[in-house]
Amino acid sequence: MRTLITGGAGFIGSHLCERFLAEGHAVVCVDNFITGRPDNVRHLVDNPKFRVIVHDVSRPLHVDGLLDNVLHFASPASPVDYQKSPIQTLKVGSLGTHVALGIAKAHGARYLIASTSEVYGDPEVHPQTEDYWGHVNPVGERSMYDESKRFAEAMTMAYHREHNVQTHIVRIFNTFGERMRLDDGRVLPNFVGQAFRGEPLTVYGDGSQTRSFCYVSDLVDGIYRLLHSDYHLPVNLGNPGEMTILEFAEEILRLTGSHSRIVHRPLPADDPKQRKPDISLARRLLGWEPQVSREEGLRRTIEHYKKKLGK
Ligand SMILES: NC(=O)c1ccc[n+]([C@@H]2O[C@H](COP(=O)([O-])OP(=O)(O)OC[C@H]3O[C@@H](n4cnc5c(N)ncnc54)[C@H](O)[C@@H]3O)[C@@H](O)[C@H]2O)c1
Repeated sequence: MRTLITGGAGFIGSHLCERFLAEGHAVVCVDNFITGRPDNVRHLVDNPKFRVIVHDVSRPLHVDGLLDNVLHFASPASPVDYQKSPIQTLKVGSLGTHVALGIAKAHGARYLIASTSEVYGDPEVHPQTEDYWGHVNPVGERSMYDESKRFAEAMTMAYHREHNVQTHIVRIFNTFGERMRLDDGRVLPNFVGQAFRGEPLTVYGDGSQTRSFCYVSDLVDGIYRLLHSDYHLPVNLGNPGEMTILEFAEEILRLTGSHSRIVHRPLPADDPKQRKPDISLARRLLGWEPQVSREEGLRRTIEHYKKKLGK
């Protein structure tokens, strides 16, 4: 088996590369390092079954040889990253998705796209089920990400319906783990970085907004199962354990042993108030549910950061 992973040098992509190599696949990682790092896949480069192509997937790409699977994960993913590169984000969700689907079609490969819980916007339905169409501001400060993913889902379904490509769509809810960049602006690396530096933890608003956090190995397992299923409509993957951001800050302080304070800052525009996946479909379809508790996942992630920072 040979699998192409766009965004393979990113946080989730690098874990996917590891998993597919472990399953015996040859893996082609395509990345332009806009938010990913060579470091994330350095431990894989001596494996003869692993190849990196440095390329912007929003531009045409031809891949020689057979391909069984195409996983399209390339996209800036944190608000800090996608707001810094709004046009690149829209391009990789539209042109990049078109390129990746074209490769899958040409090779007769299965295709899976990383979509996001952000397609639900600031949801009026809680928890979010796949049949909810969302509440997205199409011109807001997150629109470059939310709308590019919504377009990507539409393009994926069009390739399935018109060209019969075996496509899959995963709507990923907040996922965390080793190799997230400490400066990527997402809540977990923010809090951990601040806790380690002894700085106050920044909570936006009063911290009553909720999130649910899934450990990366669970997500990767769900993706692997979905890719091999015959289901083509979107599937939520995430951990339904919900907590407020304030509770999360307190948990990070406890697990890092930090004495940092918590400070409050104004809530950014269009910040969703609630986020929790309904994973009934994934349970039924894939026999999947998270296995690693949030606390265990956090311990592993904090340990990784400690080693990295020599703490
Ligand atoms: N981490 C999460 O909680 C989460 C939640 C929902 C969806 N997702 C989706 O999962 C995917 C991976 O997210 P992540 O958290 O690993 O982010 P990440 O930023 O660590 O990884 C994204 C990777 O894509 C690469 N990339 C971006 N644009 C590219 C382009 N034009 N050509 C080639 N490579 C490009 C980046 O360099 C990076 O390596 C993204 O599509 C994201 O939208 C992630």
